[in-house]
Amino acid sequence: MSHTRLALHGGESVKKTAFETGKRFGLEEARELLEALEQNTLFYHFGGKVKKFLAVFNDMYQVRYSVATSSGTAALHVALGAAGVTAGDEVITSPITDQGTVIGILYQNAVPVFADLDPHSYNMTAENIEKKITAKTKAILVVHLAGNPCDMDPIMELARKHNLKVIEDCAQSYLTTYKGRLTGTIGHYGCFSTNDFKHISTGDGGIVTVNSGDEADYFTTHAFADKNYHRHGNSVMKDLEYLAPNYRMTELQGAVGIAQLQKLEWICTRRNEFGERLNEGLTGLKGIIPMKITDGGWCSYWFYMLTLNLDELSCTRAEFSDALTAEGIPNQAGYIPKVLYAQSLFQERQAYKNSHYPFDQGTYDYSPGSCPNAEQILNTAIRLNLNEFYSNQDIEEMIIAVKKVAAYYAR
Ligand SMILES: Cc1ncc(COP(=O)(O)O)c(C=O)c1O
Repeated sequence: MSHTRLALHGGESVKKTAFETGKRFGLEEARELLEALEQNTLFYHFGGKVKKFLAVFNDMYQVRYSVATSSGTAALHVALGAAGVTAGDEVITSPITDQGTVIGILYQNAVPVFADLDPHSYNMTAENIEKKITAKTKAILVVHLAGNPCDMDPIMELARKHNLKVIEDCAQSYLTTYKGRLTGTIGHYGCFSTNDFKHISTGDGGIVTVNSGDEADYFTTHAFADKNYHRHGNSVMKDLEYLAPNYRMTELQGAVGIAQLQKLEWICTRRNEFGERLNEGLTGLKGIIPMKITDGGWCSYWFYMLTLNLDELSCTRAEFSDALTAEGIPNQAGYIPKVLYAQSLFQERQAYKNSHYPFDQGTYDYSPGSCPNAEQILNTAIRLNLNEFYSNQDIEEMIIAVKKVAAYYAR
């Protein structure tokens, strides 16, 4: 194998056929959309589509209450607001995530504090979270990255000990389970995104689960997504006790969501099969460290990400990525360009232009090296696209290509 000429050097590429594709939207969505329009209102509280979308979701997740929002970022902000996160609080979260995870924290004038990750599952750990707890910590916002669940038992135990709220960012973890429990139902709130790049899409949108099952908690959460309007049955109450944004989902999104939810199980099962096969096929190769699925976890693989052990390879990460691309396997070197705290917003401590608030309320460590595992992950990761429409052959060719490139560069 080590003598096989890389496509990068003029050899034959592994992948000679296009990846299988498919249609995400069909007549099912169109029918729901038509019905939504025929209602003569697209407002969630007057129509039936968002309500049905949530009812189907609640049934699937076995939760009593959830709230629909305009995006995943909005869902997270709503959960933070409902959890009581406010000016001067600290929220512990992951340095490797979409910026949508931290936007709501800052809009509540609270401060994101980053905890380091497990080097191979890429997820937050109770041990590293504990090191970041201060008297100002109000909540832990865990991210189940790529559909891999965080090890939630010790995290929930820690939260109980310190009386902290736990919010789960499930934007990438639809139907992911941890010890048989669905992510998004374990913490106090679970937040989902239905943006166009997620397992299911409503164009944009989101959902917050209210896991206490408590009606007052649900009412607070619901109102936080609707300018603090309390709309229940025929009663409407405007309660402007504190600030709450308008993050409402429209009937059009709800309509598409109903049809999309019907496909969710198939999508997640397919991705799980592909991800598991990749993990199996990429185990035991010199220089390749497969993704570590959390013990007791079932991963719905929003993407597949391995890391390189560069001590065992004679190439750089960029060369490895280029070689894989030349073999016909699309991939990205890394996930996000840098850990969140390395972004200028944190380096300059400027969430709002010409202001250092709320960063000037305390001392926060955003220095390079403060989450070494997270930085190492982003410096060595290779992210492979996954899609439910891929064929088994596509996956096998991905494995063959990684094996070919790894064998060529193995020291
Ligand atoms: C982990 C994570 N959190 C939050 C978000 C934000 O979701 P949205 O784009 O719907 O606002 C995303 C979306 O990329 C995400 O991947």
